[in-house]
Amino acid sequence: MPDTRITEDFLGFGLGLRTDHFEYILQHQPDIDWFEVLSENYLVAGGKPRYYLEAIAEQYPVVMHGVSMSIGSTDPLDMDYLKALKKLSNDIQPKWISDHICWTSLHGVNSHDLLPLPYTEETVNHVAQRVRQVQDVLGRRILLENVSSYLSYQDSTMDEWDFLSQVAEAADCLILLDINNIYVSARNHHFNPLDYLNKIDPRRVQQFHLAGHSDYGDYVIDTHDHDITPSVWTLYQAALERFGAVSTMIERDANIPQFPALYNELLEAKNIAQLTLPDHPALARSHFGTRTLSETSKLASASPHHDSPQKIRG
Ligand SMILES: [Fe+2]
Repeated sequence: MPDTRITEDFLGFGLGLRTDHFEYILQHQPDIDWFEVLSENYLVAGGKPRYYLEAIAEQYPVVMHGVSMSIGSTDPLDMDYLKALKKLSNDIQPKWISDHICWTSLHGVNSHDLLPLPYTEETVNHVAQRVRQVQDVLGRRILLENVSSYLSYQDSTMDEWDFLSQVAEAADCLILLDINNIYVSARNHHFNPLDYLNKIDPRRVQQFHLAGHSDYGDYVIDTHDHDITPSVWTLYQAALERFGAVSTMIERDANIPQFPALYNELLEAKNIAQLTLPDHPALARSHFGTRTLSETSKLASASPHHDSPQKIRG
């Protein structure tokens, strides 16, 4: 396997940008390396969310993450959505744009779920052709993320990791590996998560997601409302051993704690990365965690860049 990476540079350690934390971030300017923004929340220009996003994007690298591309659907691609994504990317200049390898809508009806696909040659060709179309519109490679799943198809002829790899190769796109989703699906479908990691081409892995889940014993649900579990941290370590330094972020979508709690959870990710990849030159470029939160707070209060969000109207 060629070892020449085609991915962008290592960004370091990031968090999902959440409305609960807008004011905290602008007031305290924590030394987070980057933020991931949910594209759908900012497609309409103007208003309070865009004000905060643009203020934060001026100070931090951002990446865009979407949930509506429905790349596996048999519906035509939503060109209005893609044009809105392109416009947002022109406005905030994200380092990269990602969505999920799944389908969400059929015959124009949105399920609001990230549903798995049948893993067949036909689906590989179908999805890859649509990814190439999307990449033509956006003018850049996109990242596709593995979803967690709770069902599988009798029609599938290959494993999920082979499906993801084949689509990425055929479409020449990149991969966002959600470590928690691999763990959740491994538990639900009884496969070894290390088999998944070992079959993915390291050259294409641009980003990791980490998140919490809910464990019901017989099955696991990808709820994003808990701290990351020890099993997922262990799998993260294995992913670092396999893929090296990969830009890592924590997704928290419900039961969202105060910002410092997520900051500390992200510190755990950096600690594991440093222990797993000692003296890795890319890790040395990450500024995250080099100041304490109280130090960043003092710097922010003295900074001329601190623009009061109270100026917002509407
Ligand atoms: Fe994810």
